[in-house]
Amino acid sequence: MRLILLGPPGAGKGTQASGIVDRYKVPHISTGDIFRKNIKENTELGRKAKEYMDKGLLVPDELVVAIVEDRLKEADASEGFLLDGFPRTENQAQALDTALEKMDTKLDKVINIEVDKSILVGRAVGRRICKNCGATYHIEFNKPKQEGICDLCQGELFQRSDDTEETVSKRIEVYLNETQPLIDYYTKKDILVTIDGQQDINKVLEDIVSALGSEK
Ligand code: AP5
Ligand code: ZN
Repeated sequence: MRLILLGPPGAGKGTQASGIVDRYKVPHISTGDIFRKNIKENTELGRKAKEYMDKGLLVPDELVVAIVEDRLKEADASEGFLLDGFPRTENQAQALDTALEKMDTKLDKVINIEVDKSILVGRAVGRRICKNCGATYHIEFNKPKQEGICDLCQGELFQRSDDTEETVSKRIEVYLNETQPLIDYYTKKDILVTIDGQQDINKVLEDIVSALGSEK
């Protein structure tokens, strides 16, 4: 399966990605995770990306597209992938189409996770992530068994620096202006499925799996 996860900040893309990659055995390519890894390692890309991410703005297309093209080649795109957080602009979507064409393959489905704007800020601000394994929790909706500690690996939980109320609001505004038009873009290609992201986490995954079918 060659898939895209689309949705606003806090919609549950990262949360659902782990269930999808388990089920369909495809590599998870998250541009946000790639940038955060580069920031942690203090690479040149990380330093450039941080300037934009801290303000809730998109990293320029030319930086993002090159990274994704490399990752798709590395993963052998025709064997399947799950893109999470990419594309985010029409330019990126067109660049992806061109890259896949060159690799003689194409997208199967775009999963659009829909969540009301009023819920998104609380989701992102309450999010906690494991320093060690990257598992995602929420202080209210998806609590770890022990406060501040990961259930899976006992790692310490932390809050992303762009998960403040102010930056999340900016990220939502940027999503509405720059990324939401992709819903139309993929509807026209007849590959968009919209999923209600305001249900229980497991029910959202169930709906995604039934929309995708059992095919690998
Ligand atoms: P990125 O890392 O992609 O962040 P995002 O799109 O803002 O999405 P989030 O990670 O905030 O949310 P999510 O949908 O994954 O939600 P999650 O599952 O964690 O991007 C960060 C930045 O990097 C961007 O702002 C930009 O600067 C840059 N960037 C990245 N890609 C780029 C690109 N292509 N082009 C340019 N710039 C780019 O869930 C959120 C919380 O809600 C969690 O606590 C979770 O436990 C909880 N939750 C999840 N599902 C449910 C549910 N069903 N019910 C209740 N709670 C739930
Ligand atoms: Zn962990």
